[in-house]
Amino acid sequence: MSDFKVFVTREMPAAALDRLSEHCQMEVWDAFLPPDYDVILKKMGDLSGLLCLLTDRIDARLMDAAPNLKVISNMAVGYDNIDVAAANERRIPVGNTPGVLTETTADFAFALLMAVARRIPEGRQYVQDGKWLTWHPTVLSGQDVFGATLGIIGSGRIGAAVARRAQGFNMRILVNSLESEEDIRQLGGEKVSLDQLLVESDFVSLHVPLTDETHHLISERELALMKPTSILINTARGSVLDPKALYAALKNGQILAAGLDVTDPEPIPLDDPLLSLDNCLVVPHIASASVATRAKMAEMAVDNVIAGLLGEPLPTCVNPEVFDGA
Ligand code: DGY
Repeated sequence: MSDFKVFVTREMPAAALDRLSEHCQMEVWDAFLPPDYDVILKKMGDLSGLLCLLTDRIDARLMDAAPNLKVISNMAVGYDNIDVAAANERRIPVGNTPGVLTETTADFAFALLMAVARRIPEGRQYVQDGKWLTWHPTVLSGQDVFGATLGIIGSGRIGAAVARRAQGFNMRILVNSLESEEDIRQLGGEKVSLDQLLVESDFVSLHVPLTDETHHLISERELALMKPTSILINTARGSVLDPKALYAALKNGQILAAGLDVTDPEPIPLDDPLLSLDNCLVVPHIASASVATRAKMAEMAVDNVIAGLLGEPLPTCVNPEVFDGA
């Protein structure tokens, strides 16, 4: 049995954990809810590896509590829950799971867009409430998706995959991102400023990582630019949107509706005003939640832990510079 100790902060697909257990002494947090910060802190002392989720805040204090820590592996593509600068200072590699969840997440972003546009959750509620008395010319009329204008903010892997789906719906695709005009043209899109995108789009879908620059990227000013018939979709991170400004825009009819897979905070409290709105569909951060994709994410996260324990470059590393000169 290896001397390496690894703490896994939640149960995850078994095949991946079985494989990890062959390389280390593994402890898995088996409660449904995440371990508290202090619980993780207590575990850090003799850890060589940490396999964590986006619900775990991993900061410098935790890293300092684990002098032998060789790897932090996040089972997510986003890693805003980890202080990567602190990991860099301590030369701890941080792994994530890019690529495997792209299509699943893009499917979901599009599903959310369609569900909100065509009012599917409201339709279900309408039937369950016994309101379906007849076919009616105006009841539950929504917005057309085919041929509409879609604004994609951030055209990395997932934004680009959403653009590919939009092409099948004959949409005009406006993109605001760091990618080149040529790359965006290849997606069938037009590179435009954020303001132009907001003014002209019928649907706006967010696909940027959460950073200092993207925090509250969409706030009062940006929402005011959008059409009163427009729909906002967020499958990125909750705080890319200012929730108070979003509530006001939805309540006042500044925009038509929103579909949110992510919120700030998560989980969204039951008394959050956004939940009182019929024109805001909130689901619990499940865009990457297909059985196959979650299994692949777990495998990738485990691959990163194993490589880190062996002192090898992580297959998917967000800070490969920690290996420079190693
Ligand atoms: C990620 O991997 O960052 C996603 O948000 C998980 O759904």
